[in-house]
Amino acid sequence: MVAQRPPMGWNSWNTFGGAINEQVVRETADAIVEKGLKDVGYEYVVIDDCWSLRKRNEEGKMVADPEKFPSGMKALAEYVHSKGLKFGMYSCAGTRTCAGYPGSFDYEFVDAKTFAEWDVDFLKYDFCYKPRLANGPILYNRMGMALKASGREILFSACNWGSNEVEKWIRSTGAHMYRSTGDINDSFQSFKDIAMSQVDKLAYSGPYCYNDIDMLICGMHGKGNVANGGCSDIEYRTHFALWCLFQSPLMIGGDLSKIDDFNLELLKNKELIAINQDIEARPPMMVGGGDRPVFFKHMANGEYVLAFFNFSDRDGRCGLEFYDLGLTVASGYGFKFRDIFTGEETGLVTENMDVHVASHDCKIFRGTLVQK
Ligand code: GLA
Repeated sequence: MVAQRPPMGWNSWNTFGGAINEQVVRETADAIVEKGLKDVGYEYVVIDDCWSLRKRNEEGKMVADPEKFPSGMKALAEYVHSKGLKFGMYSCAGTRTCAGYPGSFDYEFVDAKTFAEWDVDFLKYDFCYKPRLANGPILYNRMGMALKASGREILFSACNWGSNEVEKWIRSTGAHMYRSTGDINDSFQSFKDIAMSQVDKLAYSGPYCYNDIDMLICGMHGKGNVANGGCSDIEYRTHFALWCLFQSPLMIGGDLSKIDDFNLELLKNKELIAINQDIEARPPMMVGGGDRPVFFKHMANGEYVLAFFNFSDRDGRCGLEFYDLGLTVASGYGFKFRDIFTGEETGLVTENMDVHVASHDCKIFRGTLVQK
């Protein structure tokens, strides 16, 4: 059974775009193991767009570009599998992929079979070049069935950027995750807007079908295919914290051969990953809003996560009155929290909490409800 928890892995698009090849995929698989990312749960190595030739062969099958992938996809899958990882590929519900390569429209059953023959474990399925009269639910359902009929368990990763109120129907197509927004780029503004656009839709996200707020940009530092100025390390941490809190799939988008220590450790942060992988997948409750939102989340083990974000350009205080969570003084209860980044304990806190958060930073606590 796949995607009981948010899928974790790496995707080629954010850094490599069209410059993808088998060397990059092999080196990435090596790095996932050597740098300890596999140990914390990263599993899928996914090739995005631009892997195929511009034309299908005489049998109507897609063909991997022999210059980029001289060993072929099956051999590459075997290499990825030999590392104890899983192998992912990409196609599109329209007649072409977004970069203009063959799409799977009307070839769904042929392509799903081909992917299964190549031992593919994950399919990202885009939405460009879709005939106007063909609708999303039918096209994703068709590929959902084709994957099931392929004879192989393949995680189905839908990508229609949130159009046609995707959250309302996508689970019914067999998809295991679904992109809910337009493409991310490497900037604070981009990840903040993407995350905040989904706050009200997280109730649709849960085991076996997760809201995917796009691939991570941690550690890209303004380089690569989705470059847009880059972020500070603090901003990358806020980005990763949001993705974990919202239980988005965690698909690394950076170049793992060049990742810096801060961002590697961030991507391996066990406290944040534990929040992301929580089996109950309850959406966080947002208290307040504006540029200093506070989120409160129930965890499966009975604990709570409390997260303060400062999206404003000024350092300052972020506050929460516990009655805004429904916890009154009369209840006789308070919280005991631990700052997940510093390990510092708050002791018993009652009635409210007030923390200092630097601009674009966040503070995240995890703890229990206790009787005073
Ligand atoms: C779309 C998707 C991206 C990426 C590109 C590839 O824009 O949203 O994630 O897959 O296509 O062309």
